[in-house]
Formats: sequence, structure tokens, C-alpha cells
Amino acid sequence: MQNVDLLLINAGQLVTCANESQPKRGQAMRDVGMIDNGAMAIHDGRILAIGTSEQIQSEYQSEITINADGKSVIPGLVDCHTHAVFAGNRLDEFEMRIQGKSYMDIMNAGGGIRSSVRATRQASLQDLIALAQNRLDTMLQLGTTTVEIKTGYGLSDDAELKMMQAILALADSHLMTIVPTYLGAHALPAEYDSLDDYLTSIYEGSLKSSLQAYENSGLASKNIPMFVDIFVEENVFTVQQMRQLFEIAQERGLHLKAHVDEFVNLGAVPVAVDMGAVSLDHLDVTPEQELDYLAHSDTVGVMLPAVNFNLGSSHFGNARYLIDANGILALSTDYNPGSAPTMSLPMVMAIACRYQKLLPSEALNACTINAATALKLEAQVGSLEVGKQGDFLILNTDDYRALAYEFGNNLVEQIIIKGDILWSAS
Ligand code: NIG
Ligand code: FE
Repeated sequence: MQNVDLLLINAGQLVTCANESQPKRGQAMRDVGMIDNGAMAIHDGRILAIGTSEQIQSEYQSEITINADGKSVIPGLVDCHTHAVFAGNRLDEFEMRIQGKSYMDIMNAGGGIRSSVRATRQASLQDLIALAQNRLDTMLQLGTTTVEIKTGYGLSDDAELKMMQAILALADSHLMTIVPTYLGAHALPAEYDSLDDYLTSIYEGSLKSSLQAYENSGLASKNIPMFVDIFVEENVFTVQQMRQLFEIAQERGLHLKAHVDEFVNLGAVPVAVDMGAVSLDHLDVTPEQELDYLAHSDTVGVMLPAVNFNLGSSHFGNARYLIDANGILALSTDYNPGSAPTMSLPMVMAIACRYQKLLPSEALNACTINAATALKLEAQVGSLEVGKQGDFLILNTDDYRALAYEFGNNLVEQIIIKGDILWSAS
């Protein structure tokens, strides 16, 4: 008998989402790698063994044993696209939209992202950290154990760096695995008239200082990468500006993401795929031939249906097409104060199943192993496989599909991160 730090036994469904730490495509999205009456041995924060309760209990013992008592156990969820660091709120805009203004109308009139920029610039670093800490705690209770967080509400040298410092401080102190993304190219700040001038200013300004802060943070030694992102949209940044930013980011060793095709298709997908973007996010109005191009690449398509839901739209990105074309689909909240004020990946799964016609199995793989791939963390998190981080959830159900079926409820009963039991609803 081998002694280990933690044993999990009697998981009625041990849902592994395993695929040899590779993303799932096409039909494989329907396979959640279920082990009936499953168990795991966790040691030094990692999964040492996984199998049936009978197998695991015959080989391993521990002073700490969680008896899941027939409930479903799933990997910790991965939220691969959030804007969780910001100050202020956008409740007035919520009312304006209810009364008929569109998201882009509000943005073009100086509100939207720029309104969060004003509040975020005024907040201190400590305030930003405290506000985001609180949000991350809520996300965690809803089952998210890995989260990406973007800058992009600073848009000045000081304020973008302040946001990056907040993200890096949270990455150091919070129990979740946190991935930083620099999104200085989120909107045109009020001080500039030209997008080109602003973009040029960030290369030696906040992009450089944010990268330096990341390099000093020690995240790279934990295999946590840093990304660069850009909002490509009519009246925001162009495809050519994306190309220029990506070339500079790549020279500096950063990985690429972009917000594309949220409202207007500008043809960013093939360009970004050719440049090796790790993920392309939104994809609401991407035409089929560009979805095909994406599907034939290793770039992850990240869809964010909480945005469409929040904006009261009946149009959703064609997730079904991307899966059926054998692409890599991930789902994420896009948590932010304007277009998606939700911290709940189960809510996103619920929307995707109803409006994008995903099966619960597909939605779960999209929020675990495929979302981990969108962060280049597929070897560390996103599935329950030997050698990976011991991050998992015990659900208050014996059928994991209830996670997407029920909505507005929290089925997460216990959260374990790196083998530590963090939270238990009971
Ligand atoms: O992903 N579309 C651009 N950026 C964010 C929204 C940010 C905001 O409205 O504050 C998004 O939807
Ligand atoms: Fe976003």
C-alpha cells in the first residue's frame, strides 16, 4: 500500500475529459472520458493514479479520504477569457440598452470600454486587487479553478501597467491558476486621435513594461505563459493593426489572441491563424469558409455566448459548425462589466446548449480541456489525467449533465485545487 496526500473514492461518475492532454475535436467532443465509480490518488498536488474505486483503494491509502458518495466529479473549470480586473460599474448602460441603445452606439458615444477606463485609471492598485479578489472568489465557488485575466481598461502607460501588476499579484496570492494577457489594444484612449499613433506608443510603453513585470513575476518558471490580445472591430482596430501588433509581440516571445468578428466580419481569422494565434475569440459573425479555415488549424475558437445573451441578441456564433468541421471549440464567460457581467461557466454552458445546440458533453469539454488549450495549459489543467494538477469539483448531482441543464443554481459542492480541499458547500 502506498501512502498519498489525498484519496477521492466513490465518484459515481468520474468525468475525466481526458485525451492525453490534447484538445478534443469533432465527435470526440461527445466523449467526457467517464469512469463509473471512479477514484483518484493525489500526491504533491498532482494526480498520481486514476481508475475505479476498487483499483485505487487496493493500491493507495491516505489519512485524508473524500468519499464522493456516488456524486459526479469533474475537472476544475477553465475560464480562458475574462476582464476580471476593473473598477466602477456599467449599470447605467444596462438601462440604456434595455431602452434601445446598442453596445456599439454606447461605445462610439464615449461610454462602454472608455467608461470602465475612466474608473480603472482612478482606482489604486490595491483597490483593483481587492475588487478582483472578491470576483475570483465567486468564480471559484462556481467551479472555475483556472482563469485568464486581461488588461485593457488602463490604455495609458501607467494604468495598463497597474492592471498587469494587479493580475500578477493575484496570480501570486490566489489559489486559482491565473494567466495574464496584455490587452492594451482594446480601444482608442481619449488622449489620442489616431489608432496607429496609440498602437505605436504601446510598443515601448505599456507592452514593454507589462512584459517586464511578467518576466519578474516568476510565472514563466511555473509554465504560465503571457498573451497579447487586440479588439479587431469596425471603428476599433483593423486587421493590419493586428498583424503589426502580433509581429512585435511574437518577436518578444508573447503568445497571440484576438477578439474578432463580434459585430462585423473583417477577415481577421485567416490572418491570425496563419500567424499562429493560440485562440480567436467571439466569432459571432465569422462566415463558414473562415470557420473552415480555423477548423483546419490548431488555433482554438473561443465562443462567448453570455455576451449575446447579455446584449439581448438572438444571434449566436456558429459553434455547431466549428465542431462539425472538426475545429477546436472552447467556451468562456468573457466576464466584464459591459458585454458579459457573469462569472459563471455553468451559465455559459447552459446558454451554449440551448442556443448553440451543444450537448452537455461538448459544453463541458469546451470549458475544460479545450479552454486549457486556449491558454497553452493543456499539459497542466483541464482534464483528470496522471501527472496533471489535482484540480477537481464534486457536484451535488449524480449526473454531470445537470451542470448545463440546470441554470441559475450552483451545483458545485466541493472544490479541490492541487489536492487541497478549499471549499465545501456543506
Ligand atoms: O470581450 N469586445 C471587446 N471587449 C470586451 C468588452 C469589454 C467591455 O465592454 O468593457 C468583450 O466583449
Ligand atoms: Fe473580451
